[in-house]
Amino acid sequence: MGDPMKRVAILISGRGSNMVSLLEGMRAGEIDGKAVLVVSNRADALGLDKARSFGVPVKVIARGEAKGRESHDRAVVAALEDAGAEIVCLAGYMRILTPFFVERYHQRLINIHPSLLPSFPGLHAQEQACAYGARISGCTVHFVDAEVDHGPIIAQAAVPVLPDDDADALAARILEQEHRIYPRALADLCADRIRLEGRRVIIAGRPVSFPGSLCVC
Ligand code: GRF
Repeated sequence: MGDPMKRVAILISGRGSNMVSLLEGMRAGEIDGKAVLVVSNRADALGLDKARSFGVPVKVIARGEAKGRESHDRAVVAALEDAGAEIVCLAGYMRILTPFFVERYHQRLINIHPSLLPSFPGLHAQEQACAYGARISGCTVHFVDAEVDHGPIIAQAAVPVLPDDDADALAARILEQEHRIYPRALADLCADRIRLEGRRVIIAGRPVSFPGSLCVC
């Protein structure tokens, strides 16, 4: 019988707090996954040392080493394939992936975004929600497709936007929920509990003790 653990890679650009929540979930045995590689496009990403502290191999593939977006993505995909990655998690990875990458990891590539999609895609989602005057915001784990922050939704959590919030205060409230729902979504994917009907993500067979894919806080 093959290894039931899925081989998971994580792509980061910065502090890597979501990456840590995924690594902790895998280390605790809550996710049937084994972290095989962390890739950063920035050599100064704070998350790199955190990944090393979990004993996970890291690789920096910085801009400039490869000319053009697709050749950069080809270099990243080559590293992922060398590591045998079956599932790829974007965790604050600040690059838009080309169709080459997205197709290569079709339905095996997920992202976390700090808004309730389809509201406020793109950069500075928490600032967008504050400026818009939204009363509720949150976070979304979704499959990655060729459009930015657009693929089928796996999990969401909602938080209030309070009257005195600035973008930082809202971001901190949302981040707590990101760290709850991202490991759960990865656990569902690793355990093959997820299937798609069009855009709708159907999650079947999740243990009763395991909270749902919608959290309202
Ligand atoms: C998070 O807010 C995530 O939703 C967004 O980028 C941020 C990354 O934070 N995609 P961290 O590096 O995981 O701490």
